[in-house]
Amino acid sequence: MEQSLLAVIFALILSLTDYAKAADQKAIAPENLLVITAATEETDGFHRFMRTAREFNYTVKVLGLGEEWKGGDVARTVGGGQKVRWLKRELQKHSDNKELVILFVDSYDVILASGPQELLWKFSRMGHRVIFSAEGFCWPDQKLASKYPPVYTGKRYLNSGGFIGYAPDLSAIVQQWKYKDNDDDQLFYTKIYLDKAQRTKFNMTLDHRSRIFQNLNGAIEEVVLKFEKARVRARNVAYDTLPVIIHGNGPTKLQLNYLGNYVPTAWTHETGCGICDDDLLDLSEVPDEEMPTIQISVFIEQPTPFLPEFLERLTTLNYPMSRLRLFIHNNVVYHEQHIQQFWERHRDDFPDTRVVGPEENLQHDQARTMAVELCRGDPTCDYYFSIDADVALTNPDVLRILIEENKSVIAPMLSRHGKLWSNFWGALSPEGFYSRSEDYIDIVQGKRVGLWNVPYITQVYLIRGSTLRTRLAQVSLYVQDGMDPDMVFCRTVRDQGVFMFVSNRDEFGRLVSAANYNISRLHPDMWQIFDNPVDWREKYIHENYSKIFDEDENVIEQPCPDVYWFPAFSEKMCDDLVETMEDFGEWSGGKHTDERLAGGYENVPTVDIHMNQISFEKEWLKFLKEYIVPVTEKLYPGYYPKAHAVMNFVVRYRPGEQPYLRPHHDSSTFTINIALNRKGIDFQGGGCRFLRYDCNVETPRKGWSFMHPGRLTHYHEGLPTTQGTRYIMVSFVDP
Ligand SMILES: *[C@@H]1O[C@H](CO)[C@@H](O)[C@H](O)[C@H]1NC(C)=O
Ligand SMILES: *[C@@H]1O[C@H](CO)[C@@H](O)[C@H](O)[C@H]1NC(C)=O
Ligand SMILES: *[C@@H]1O[C@H](CO)[C@@H](O)[C@H](O)[C@H]1NC(C)=O
Ligand SMILES: *[C@@H]1O[C@H](CO)[C@@H](O)[C@H](O)[C@H]1NC(C)=O
Ligand SMILES: *[C@@H]1O[C@H](CO)[C@@H](O)[C@H](O)[C@H]1NC(C)=O
Repeated sequence: MEQSLLAVIFALILSLTDYAKAADQKAIAPENLLVITAATEETDGFHRFMRTAREFNYTVKVLGLGEEWKGGDVARTVGGGQKVRWLKRELQKHSDNKELVILFVDSYDVILASGPQELLWKFSRMGHRVIFSAEGFCWPDQKLASKYPPVYTGKRYLNSGGFIGYAPDLSAIVQQWKYKDNDDDQLFYTKIYLDKAQRTKFNMTLDHRSRIFQNLNGAIEEVVLKFEKARVRARNVAYDTLPVIIHGNGPTKLQLNYLGNYVPTAWTHETGCGICDDDLLDLSEVPDEEMPTIQISVFIEQPTPFLPEFLERLTTLNYPMSRLRLFIHNNVVYHEQHIQQFWERHRDDFPDTRVVGPEENLQHDQARTMAVELCRGDPTCDYYFSIDADVALTNPDVLRILIEENKSVIAPMLSRHGKLWSNFWGALSPEGFYSRSEDYIDIVQGKRVGLWNVPYITQVYLIRGSTLRTRLAQVSLYVQDGMDPDMVFCRTVRDQGVFMFVSNRDEFGRLVSAANYNISRLHPDMWQIFDNPVDWREKYIHENYSKIFDEDENVIEQPCPDVYWFPAFSEKMCDDLVETMEDFGEWSGGKHTDERLAGGYENVPTVDIHMNQISFEKEWLKFLKEYIVPVTEKLYPGYYPKAHAVMNFVVRYRPGEQPYLRPHHDSSTFTINIALNRKGIDFQGGGCRFLRYDCNVETPRKGWSFMHPGRLTHYHEGLPTTQGTRYIMVSFVDP
C-alpha cells in the first residue's frame, strides 16, 4: 500500500481517538476566542491573512493599523518590541476574563489553515494555559540554547510569531514589558519561558511538533500539501500533524506564498481554481469615458519576429482607445519601418503616443524606468501595462480581465507554443534564479487553473498606478548595476511585500521566440515556421486552409480529373516569396529533369529560383509536411507521402523571357503548383492545360494550390503568359 495512504489512515485513527478524548473535556466555545494581530500597513500579506481569517469566521483585532512602525526591520535584525507594547495595552482590557483565549499571530507572513473549533480543541488537548510556537533555531541569542529544557521529538526553541493562551496569563506576561519599541520581542518572551518559575506559574509550553503552529523556517522539507476533497491542508510529515497557523518566518516568505496559493480554500482537484477571488471588480457597467486609464508601454529591445502583427494587435484590444496611452521604446533600427507603418495607419487611435527610438540610445533598464516614471508621476495614470515585443496577446479582453482581478501586480500567463517556456517562475533558487516549482508544469499546461502568487514574472504585466505611487514609490524598479531589469523589478517588488500574481484563468496568447531571427533576410518571418509555428501559420497560411478538413465546407475544387485545387498561401506569403525571389534575382534557365511520356529524361527549362538557393529548403519541406501532406492524405486515401521533395522552385513566366512551358510530365508522384500573383492585375494569360483530359485551368487564384499526379497521367503544359509577369511556386513531391 502507498505509504502516504497508510499515513492518512493512521492520522485518521489518531484524530478519531483525539476527538473521543476531547469530547470528555469541556470544549472551549469559539465565542471565547479572540485573535489579535499587529500590522501598521495593509500589505498584500495582511489582506491575505484577513481573508483566511474571514474564511473561518475568526474574530480578529488588529493592533497598530495606521501607526508608524518603530519596531525595527524584523526581517533582518532583532526588534518587534512595539508589538508587545500594543499587546500590553490591549490585554489589560481582558486581564480578568478567565474564559477568554487569546491567539496572537503576526499577519504579513501568516495564513490560517483551519477554523476556531479545531484550534481550540487542539489547544485544550495540549493541556497548557500558554503555548508558544517552536522552531529549530535559537534566535536572537544563541547562547540561550543550552538553557532550554530538552525535548524528545520536535523543535526546541521559542518563536514569538504565534502564541495562544488564556487572557489573564498572557496579560500577566506582557505586563512585564518595560523595554524600547525596537527591543526584541522574541528575546523578551524567551527569557520568561526559560525562567522555570515563570514557566510553571504561567503553565507555559512550546508547540514542539507543530500541532497548532507551523514555523516554516528550517522546516520547509517537513511541510507538504495534502489535497482533500474540498480544500487543501498543509501537513507536517515529520510529526504527522495538520497545523492550524502557518508562519513564513525568516527567509521563507516565498514558500508561504506558494502554500497560500492552495491553503486553505484555493485550488483543489474538486474546485479546480487557485485563489479565484470572489471580490472581483466589475467593469462591465462602466461607461467608456470612466474606464481606468492605462499606459501601455511597449519594449522592442531586440529584433523580434512578427512585429507588425504585434503592433496591429494593440489596436484590436477591447478597451476604449481614449483611455489608453502608448509609450514605445524601440531599440532596433530594423523595426523602425514597422513602427512607421503602424504610426501611419493608427496615429488617430493613439494621439498621445510617445516613441523613443534607437537614436536616443537609451539602455533597456533606463527605458523601462522612463516609462514607469511617466505613470508613477501622473495621478491620472490608473494602470501601467508593460509588454515586450515577443508577447502575442491574442485575447482582446486581456486588459479588462486583469484589472477585474484587482491585484497590485498581475501578469497573464503565457508560454511558447507547445513548450514549457513561460513568463513566470514558480519558485526561486537560493541564489535568486529560476527554480521549478512542483506545480509549474501543471500551471503552464492549464491542468491547474487560477491566480498564482509567484516570485518572478516577466515580459507582460499590469501594475496598479496607486501601488506605484505608494508601496513602490521610493524604489528604483529596474536599474541596478550588472542586473537584468526583470530580475531587479521582481526582487524590488518582492522586497516591498507586494505580491505578484500570474493568472491562467483565461487563454491570453503565447510567447514568440526571437532566438533564431535573421534580419539580414528580406522577409525574415518566412523562416520562422520552426520557432514560431502558430504565428507563421497566421501570417502565411490561407485563412480558409483549415476548411479543407471541414466536411461541410467543400472548399476543395476539382477543375480537371484528379486535379485538386485548394487554398494554401496567404496573400502575404505570395508577396513575400515573390519579393524574396526578385530580391535574390538569380533567375536561371531551369535544369530540372522532367520525365517524357516516351520514357527517358529531358530538361524542360524554366526561368526559376530554387528554394535551396535562398536557404529555404528546410522550411519548405516543413511546410509540405505540415500543410500539404494532410491534404494528400485526405485526397488520396491510403497514400502516405514521405514529403520528400527535391524540386522546389518559383517559376517566372513573362512574354519575351519564358511565357509558357511545353507539354511534359513531372518527375514526381504528385506536384503542387501555387499561384503567387493575380491574373488580370499582375499578368494576362497563363494557366495550365492537361492534355489527356483536354482540360484547361485558366483562371489561377492567388495563394491557391493545384495538386495533381506527376507521372504518366498528367501530361501538361504551361499556357502562355501574354502580359505582365506570372509567378508560380512548384514542388515535385516524392520524386
Ligand atoms: C461563517 O459564518 C457564516 C455566517 O455566519 C456561515 O455561513 C459559514 O458557514 C461560517 N463558516 C465557517 C467556516 O464556519
Ligand atoms: C498546566 O495546567 C493544567 C491545567 O490547567 C494542568 O493539568 C497541568 O498539570 C499544568 N502543567 C504544568 C506543567 O504545570
Ligand atoms: C480591490 O482591492 C482593494 C485593495 O486590495 C480593496 O480595498 C478593494 O476592496 C477591492 N475591491 C473589490 C471590489 O473587491
Ligand atoms: C542570415 O541570412 C543571411 C542572408 O540570407 C545569410 O547569409 C546568413 O548565413 C544567415 N545567418 C544565419 C545565422 O543563418
Ligand atoms: C474565405 O472564405 C470566406 C467565405 O467563403 C470568404 O468570404 C473569404 O474571402 C475567404 N478568404 C480569402 C482570403 O479568400
